[in-house]
Amino acid sequence: MDVEGPGAVARTIADEIDRHGPMRFDRYMELALYSPGGYYEDPPVGAGPSGDFVTSPHVHPVFAQLLAEAIRDLHEAMGRPDGFELIEAGAGDGTLLRALLPELADLDPRVSAVERSAGARASLATIDGVAIRDTMPDAGDPALILAHELLDNLPFRRLRSTGDGPREVHVGLVDGGFVEVLEPVTLLATTDEDETVVPTGARSFIIEALAGPAPRAMLAVDYGSDRGSGDRRTDTPRTVSSRTCSPRRAPPTSPRGWTSGSSPRRSRRRGCERSRRSPSTTR
Ligand SMILES: C[S@@+](CC[C@H](N)C(=O)[O-])C[C@H]1O[C@@H](n2cnc3c(N)ncnc32)[C@H](O)[C@@H]1O
Repeated sequence: MDVEGPGAVARTIADEIDRHGPMRFDRYMELALYSPGGYYEDPPVGAGPSGDFVTSPHVHPVFAQLLAEAIRDLHEAMGRPDGFELIEAGAGDGTLLRALLPELADLDPRVSAVERSAGARASLATIDGVAIRDTMPDAGDPALILAHELLDNLPFRRLRSTGDGPREVHVGLVDGGFVEVLEPVTLLATTDEDETVVPTGARSFIIEALAGPAPRAMLAVDYGSDRGSGDRRTDTPRTVSSRTCSPRRAPPTSPRGWTSGSSPRRSRRRGCERSRRSPSTTR
């Protein structure tokens, strides 16, 4: 079948829609980001002029110093376990770990970095004393899990208020292109904002990361707003490419680079209001 978007992953999605009908948005994200040919297979995902992400650790090392204080507090609350493991999930290019580890030297943690992107793992491999993984380790020793700007990358469902009542956004296929298909919702009421996301991927990640008998704690940092902006062009779900945002309302013609978490303020800084690029032009 002839479909728009990057070849293999677009075909995977189109085949599944052909077989089963329009798919929920979290399934679409799962395939777009993580299936063969998906976004995270395509290094580099990271900082720098050609990267998609610039985050607080890239702005100033004081961010890592503040996180080190929070990690000390959690370590204390866990009962100061000896030989605990510090696991950074979604560690990106390692900027945060590089600044953080000297601050925590006296706690002497074993350190792991978990990354789905092969390009990011190559960058992380240059940090001394860090075990690099592509999936979360099984629960064993006491562990403190750090996730900075990861959870809002994980798949979510989208519920929208419409004149006909609440609807869930699905992705269908029309004339070889992906389109939004609105299906009735029975699960939840939406708020008075025009769209609500249900972070199914983040929920599963947290449950699995904290499973296990040993003391485990998680420090997860993301950025967002507890109120929608009320403007469909700047509200929560969007695609990001080379630090340029695309409005979520545009049909999801390209299964690339979806994320859920930016505040309207941050969106403006990243040019979302100015940008009118179609997601079909994102990487
Ligand atoms: C927005 S970046 C943040 C990177 C870094 N934490 C920082 O603050 O600069 C999100 C990172 O999470 C990684 N990622 C996405 N899904 C993941 C998953 N399921 N497990 C591990 N890493 C993941 C991506 O490859 C990307 O490097």
